[in-house]
Amino acid sequence: MTVSLEQLRRCHFAVDLGAARTRVYVKGMGLVVDQPSVAAMNTRTGALIAVGELAERMTGRTPDYIRVVRPVAGGTVVDIEMAQRMLRHLLGDKTRRMLRRKPRLRAAACTPHDADPLAQRATIETLVGLGARRVELVDTLIAAAVGCGLPVERPEATMILVCGAAATQVAVLSLGSIVCAERLPVGGEAVDHAIVQLLRHEHELMLPSQSVRPLQIALSGNGLTPYGPTSTEIHGRDVATGRARSVLVDTAAVRDAIQTPLTAVLDGIGKVLRDCPPDLVADLADRGIMMVGGSALLPGFDELLREATGMPVHIAERPDVCVVQGIGAMLEGRIEPLALGPLAA
Ligand SMILES: Nc1ncnc2c1ncn2[C@@H]1O[C@H](COP(=O)(O)OP(=O)(O)OP(=O)(O)O)[C@@H](O)[C@H]1O
Ligand SMILES: [Mg+2]
Repeated sequence: MTVSLEQLRRCHFAVDLGAARTRVYVKGMGLVVDQPSVAAMNTRTGALIAVGELAERMTGRTPDYIRVVRPVAGGTVVDIEMAQRMLRHLLGDKTRRMLRRKPRLRAAACTPHDADPLAQRATIETLVGLGARRVELVDTLIAAAVGCGLPVERPEATMILVCGAAATQVAVLSLGSIVCAERLPVGGEAVDHAIVQLLRHEHELMLPSQSVRPLQIALSGNGLTPYGPTSTEIHGRDVATGRARSVLVDTAAVRDAIQTPLTAVLDGIGKVLRDCPPDLVADLADRGIMMVGGSALLPGFDELLREATGMPVHIAERPDVCVVQGIGAMLEGRIEPLALGPLAA
């Protein structure tokens, strides 16, 4: 996937359609949308009832005739029509009217590192449905590296870890291009799911995955190492009686439960390091790993990586919006043409 910076500079807006959140950057305006990738529809009339935060709050709380849907899954648009409707609503009338006035509307979108042609097509079609006459695709890893200000143009290796909801992508970049990369199908959703399963099996308590955050916060302070608060109270529904109940959950048990997805990420990093030329690995030992994506905020994740790899680990300043800000910077022409070797025309 190579796209010229010149083409990107001509784009009017950029979209990052994530499994958890949808973000839109409009040239000259900045980040205008940062909302959950969720839509709620009336199954009787087919009408859209809510999108974004509001629709997410409806999850699990709707009557039969309202369905809450997620048009993006695993980093891919799985329901093109719904994704278009969701984006139209999220953009709002004013921004849409402004974009419609452009004579030849051009859009940019980021796609996961190893997105297959079908997934790329789905992203393009979603934006064409929004009126884009031309759509440029950018590798998420490149956008993320630009967004967090990594010096990708230099002949020194940098490692980036994009911790999303559905997937974690890891890459070594040098001279503006990807030297080696892996995409692992585990992310924030897998971590939440592991905690939900723990509560179900150990405490016979059911609760939605959006409610496990207090248990993750308990991992903070001393991270995934065993010194944080020893237990946290959490409310849910008893599996057998259906009644509301609260339990005290052991922090150590939560730490153990999320080991499986986190180990998969560590294995992925190991593989990228093994595939990487030795000279670049030496650079990485100095420069370390830059973490971006919403799941980079998982308390103690950085500490775990530091311990497992022995390398310095940094979390980007606003890890959640790095990717979209990266494409935004390319749209605004804030990147020197020389900065991205193969990406430049
Ligand atoms: N403070 C936090 N602590 C732990 N996890 C967090 C925090 N904030 C966000 N997350 C997790 O980050 C994920 C969302 O990250 P992000 O917005 O990068 O995902 P996405 O871009 O929608 O997903 P993908 O790129 O995989 O399609 C969610 O799974 C969410 O649970
Ligand atoms: Mg993402």
